[in-house]
Amino acid sequence: MNLKLAFIGTGNMGGALARAASRDPENDLFLVNRHPEKAIKLQAEIGGTVAECAEAVEKADMIFLGVKPVVLPSLCETIRPMLAAKKYPFVIVTMVAGVSIAKLRSLLGADYPVIRIMPNTPVSVGEGMILYTSAAENYTKGFLHVMRYAGKFLPVEERLMEAGMAVSGCGPAFVDLFVEALADAGVAGGLPRKDAITVAAQMVLGSAKLILESGKHPGELKDAVCSPGGTTIQGVRKLEEKGFRSAVIEAVIAAKDA
Ligand SMILES: NC(=O)c1ccc[n+]([C@@H]2O[C@H](COP(=O)([O-])OP(=O)(O)OC[C@H]3O[C@@H](n4cnc5c(N)ncnc54)[C@H](OP(=O)(O)O)[C@@H]3O)[C@@H](O)[C@H]2O)c1
Repeated sequence: MNLKLAFIGTGNMGGALARAASRDPENDLFLVNRHPEKAIKLQAEIGGTVAECAEAVEKADMIFLGVKPVVLPSLCETIRPMLAAKKYPFVIVTMVAGVSIAKLRSLLGADYPVIRIMPNTPVSVGEGMILYTSAAENYTKGFLHVMRYAGKFLPVEERLMEAGMAVSGCGPAFVDLFVEALADAGVAGGLPRKDAITVAAQMVLGSAKLILESGKHPGELKDAVCSPGGTTIQGVRKLEEKGFRSAVIEAVIAAKDA
């Protein structure tokens, strides 16, 4: 399936999705950014064409909107006449947090086919989590195909997007903090910093894989590490004493409500 994909906004998230899309050599990428330097740098890494907005919108079959929410209204104003002049088939894919499909359509002035996604930055290494709501039935299969190297996909009702965003969109930052803290502890114990980060990150990767591949509840897997009278349960006791679980729950809810 040879499709043309336009990425408007090649920052952290748009750039990560473009990286994922570039793993399928059949995809033709158009990279558009307000200051083109970022798009030029990305092109040097993944290929594709650095383009002006008008050219990308005109040529693309799939238009990814990757700008910050605050910038979206002015971008929509710019592309509104371009879309009005464009012939089907095409679909708009929005990653903009907090902006509903209905709101985006009203900003664009027409009920275009839209797929709203909530991705995360690990898509750039093929291990992302993408929640999506489709108001573009005929295009969903094509979207899932061209982005198949991004990671896992989960269709959700649009009202659940914010909850999903707080867990998987913001989650990488929380995990990064956790890994950094684990590595600090490793350094305190004498491990060189680089080794401490590798050990901590690989442990998180492996634990996540074990949860997904075993299908077991995380509590059961935790119990399997905690030998009676052993060392791990003492660590668990300390985490509970310091409010670890409550801190994580409150962090996710704060992100959802922000
Ligand atoms: N970061 C995440 O993990 C994450 C996760 C899920 C969803 N999202 C969503 O993804 C969107 C982008 O977030 P981000 O973190 O990637 O932000 P970011 O790194 O600031 O990227 C936004 C990009 O949009 C560009 N831009 C601004 N106005 C533009 C225009 N009119 N035309 C073309 N490009 C334009 C900016 O270019 P300049 O640098 O030149 O201004 C910047 O490169 C947001 O809506 C956010 O809600 C982000």
